[in-house]
Amino acid sequence: MLDCCKLTVGPFFVITNSLPLGHNALEESIMTREEIVAELRRLEPWFHAIDLGDGISTKIRSVMGEPVNHPYGPWQSIQKCLPEDLSGKSVLDVGCNAGFYSFEAKRRGAAHVLGLDAQRHHIRQAVFARKVLGLNLEFRRMNVYELDQRRMGQFDITLALGLIYHLKHLVLALENLYNVTRETLIIETAIMPPERGSASFSHPLGQDHMRLHPLALVENPRDAKEQVFNWFLPSVEALEALLRNTGFDNIEVVEVKNERAVVVCRKTAGGSEESARLHYFAALALKAGAPACQPDQELSFTLRVKNSGLTRWPARGEGLSDKGAVHLGAHLMHTNDEEISWDYGRANLPQDLEPGAEAVIDIVLRAPPKPGRYIVEFDMVSEYIAWFEDFSSATLRHELTVEQ
Ligand SMILES: C[S@@+](CC[C@H](N)C(=O)[O-])C[C@H]1O[C@@H](n2cnc3c(N)ncnc32)[C@H](O)[C@@H]1O
Repeated sequence: MLDCCKLTVGPFFVITNSLPLGHNALEESIMTREEIVAELRRLEPWFHAIDLGDGISTKIRSVMGEPVNHPYGPWQSIQKCLPEDLSGKSVLDVGCNAGFYSFEAKRRGAAHVLGLDAQRHHIRQAVFARKVLGLNLEFRRMNVYELDQRRMGQFDITLALGLIYHLKHLVLALENLYNVTRETLIIETAIMPPERGSASFSHPLGQDHMRLHPLALVENPRDAKEQVFNWFLPSVEALEALLRNTGFDNIEVVEVKNERAVVVCRKTAGGSEESARLHYFAALALKAGAPACQPDQELSFTLRVKNSGLTRWPARGEGLSDKGAVHLGAHLMHTNDEEISWDYGRANLPQDLEPGAEAVIDIVLRAPPKPGRYIVEFDMVSEYIAWFEDFSSATLRHELTVEQ
């Protein structure tokens, strides 16, 4: 059994209010014991056994064969990875289910805890448990694919426990988890059964010998609901490689037991630019530039460029080749997108641009010698690394008429 709940659920009673910190619903007589127990039964099935005090646990029966006190077992391993004192820290719990780990993070003093789950049913459960426990933390229905550092900022510690084997888009999700994590990501996951040949090996690919890491795909029915079925089971080495590729520079496999692993991934102080995954996005706007000109005329364009990605843009690169320097570049094309000159022009940044920063750049180009209609396409380029359009950043296309 991998877990979790392959169940059809609802409709459910929705509880909208939470209590301020330190108020226990039972002590305050806001709900009687009987009312709490009735609500727990209404919100079944519970995957998380959460102790609500006064001898009440959220869970009285196993959902998928897991122990009735689940997740007390995994918690014995996870708690060793978490600082005892989380004062001042922010914690993000992705795939929080009914909130067991979010509550434990709050009990350790975390300043801000946000639990997210893709399934509304689990958020209802978590909100109800929060109400009874009287803890001050936040729960939201959100999918791991919706995580966006630019909207949510970063969290000191991110938990992805029992989550990643539920993800069809594993790499995208790991990148999102990386982006919203400031210091540490803790992953607990099912892994590929080691006795099924999960050893890594070296193999020729193209002109190089590369290291290949097995990763098993679970075949599911075509109508399988993503969040409750299992998709990819990486070997431990595949998981480590995935996390390294994502950008984490310190990966510690804390435990491998019963076809599951606990891995702590850290970003070392400041996270070197070198090891960080490149995330280049630009917003380009034309401030000045003629739509028409004479053959061979010198053309001057002014663009406002914004670093709307997550990676700093260095104005200067390495060595004589300037490798890695970010420049504004231009391509010249026919209107049918046939290329005339890919390296049509370049202009430097006035200074390094941090994420969120803007600059105004002038670029001088020479009009084509033949009259006709053309496209000048502007894009940013990281020299000898990639044009930004390769990172799905939008280019800016300007139509130019060369008059007779
Ligand atoms: C196996 S349970 C693990 C719950 C809890 N983290 C734990 O370790 O006990 C997986 C949880 O992840 C949630 N989940 C699955 N796919 C998700 C996704 N794409 N985004 C957010 N949550 C997801 C499920 O709804 C479920 O609550």
